Amino acid sequence: MKIFADTANLQDLEELMSWGAIDGVTTNPTLLSREPGDPLETLKKICELVQGPVSAEVVSTDWQGMVKEGKKLAQLDDHIVVKIPMTVDGLKATRILTAEGIRVNMTLIFTPTQALLAAKAGATYLSPFIGRLDDISSYGMDLIADIMTILDNYDYDVEVLVASVRHPMHVLEAAKIGAPIVTVPPKVLRQLIHHPLTDIGLKKFLEDWKKVGKEIR
Ligand code: G3P
Repeated sequence: MKIFADTANLQDLEELMSWGAIDGVTTNPTLLSREPGDPLETLKKICELVQGPVSAEVVSTDWQGMVKEGKKLAQLDDHIVVKIPMTVDGLKATRILTAEGIRVNMTLIFTPTQALLAAKAGATYLSPFIGRLDDISSYGMDLIADIMTILDNYDYDVEVLVASVRHPMHVLEAAKIGAPIVTVPPKVLRQLIHHPLTDIGLKKFLEDWKKVGKEIR
């Protein structure tokens, strides 16, 4: 399973990259709006740091504007994947950008049929938002399972990128059903590590070693 970091924060990314567990990054206009400085410069720095796919989202809503912005974003760095919202114009822009060799991550997907159309338009990644479905009492992980079944049925060359992840159970459930990629906010990534029994176990080991009175050199 590939794990992407869902953040545009450079300090967080520097720390996360040092763990060796991060394969890429997803950003969106909201995440970039929280960071200081020019967002395009931030995206370049993220690409330099991560050396993997970095999703950067267009903000136009008409296909012509999306294509123009998509090309501009793709020029920032070879690692940029253009994020396009799931609309009619988004599908048109996806078809055009992918025909020109620009990778697209189709975002704001909430139904399996939206995912099917995004796959047909040529998207490289599909981003179904599971947390936002859970928020409205709809089981987000069911959407992932349905999309994976559809993609398998027809052998589409596209990866599901589980998005809007809110807690460790989302990561666990995505992994159990074999989702290819999950994008996870830094807070949830840190939650994946910590366990009270690990802390207690380490404390006891260190106390016992202290009794030995020897350094490891
Ligand atoms: O990857 C998309 C993500 O950033 C949206 O998450 O928590 O705002 O639904 P959320």
